[in-house]
Amino acid sequence: MSTVTVQTHPNLALIKYWGKRNEELMLPTKSSLSIGLAALTTRTTISFATHDNIDLGCTHSPQAIEKVVDYINWFRKRYEIKEYFAISSSNNFPTAAGLASSASGFSALAIGLASLCGLNLNKRELSVLARQGSGSAARSVEGGVVLWHAGTNTDGSDCYAEQLFDEKYLQDLRVLIVIVEDREKKVSSRKGMQLTIQTSPSYNQWLVTSEIRLTKMITALTNKDFLSLGNLAEEDWQGMHTSMLDTQPPLNYWTSTSYAAINTVKKLQQQKIECFFTTDAGPNVFIICQQAHVDLIKQTLEKIPGIKRIIESTIAGKPSVAIVY
Ligand code: PMV
Repeated sequence: MSTVTVQTHPNLALIKYWGKRNEELMLPTKSSLSIGLAALTTRTTISFATHDNIDLGCTHSPQAIEKVVDYINWFRKRYEIKEYFAISSSNNFPTAAGLASSASGFSALAIGLASLCGLNLNKRELSVLARQGSGSAARSVEGGVVLWHAGTNTDGSDCYAEQLFDEKYLQDLRVLIVIVEDREKKVSSRKGMQLTIQTSPSYNQWLVTSEIRLTKMITALTNKDFLSLGNLAEEDWQGMHTSMLDTQPPLNYWTSTSYAAINTVKKLQQQKIECFFTTDAGPNVFIICQQAHVDLIKQTLEKIPGIKRIIESTIAGKPSVAIVY
């Protein structure tokens, strides 16, 4: 095999992951659940080379390159592989601005490296491999609705992601990705999580309530109960947001435009339009709605100054892998 090209998607957590119980093994403090975002894509091409060569397309950030270098070195050691790699990766969306580029980036890298090196890993093993690059990447080795089990074993053997429903299950669901800023975030998720665990007074409470919410979310999904799904996603965001804000120093990833978009969602809810919001560790806002309401919501949001772009997405399918011999 000479070249592998993998296409993956970022995912949007409806029940969030924020914090690790083991930094080295990248084991989360709690389980989380996400949907893949079809409109956002990472495309990564990997081949064997005489030395490592990494081209991350739109970003030349030394931190991003360093994370990939560390990952490749870890991968070689883990699987006793001697080869070097030429890696070329690009996104069709802004990198590191709260759009989970690390999730699609590291899932593509994990799938590509495993495939090029003929490791023959199943989805569960691939999720473990991707997790080592970025926690949320564990959820992007699959499409549809994905559950990432935190597990309880100290060696991480019961910590993996699995698909609960495929991408066709919620065909009418749409995510409006409201781009507020396309700059890299000031405090990385990795650092932010550590600070929250160390200093946030509300964090432990969120861990407990979020696990309960996860069970309710799975029931809502099973029943295709969109109202409960949206309310649970907002409640979970609220808990994570509170913990981020009572972290010392406070983690404030949002701008006045982010809050204006959130307030617009709240106003639409009062008008009985079923739409819900969530965010990650970044200023962009994700609005979850049904296809029938997309135009109205977009038109309302377009009145807010400061919004750069609105991307409409369906739920993503599984990653694609193309091999050239
Ligand atoms: O995988 P990381 O380290 O980029 O963490 C992502 C954490 C959140 O996006 C804020 C929440 C989540 O569950 O995706």
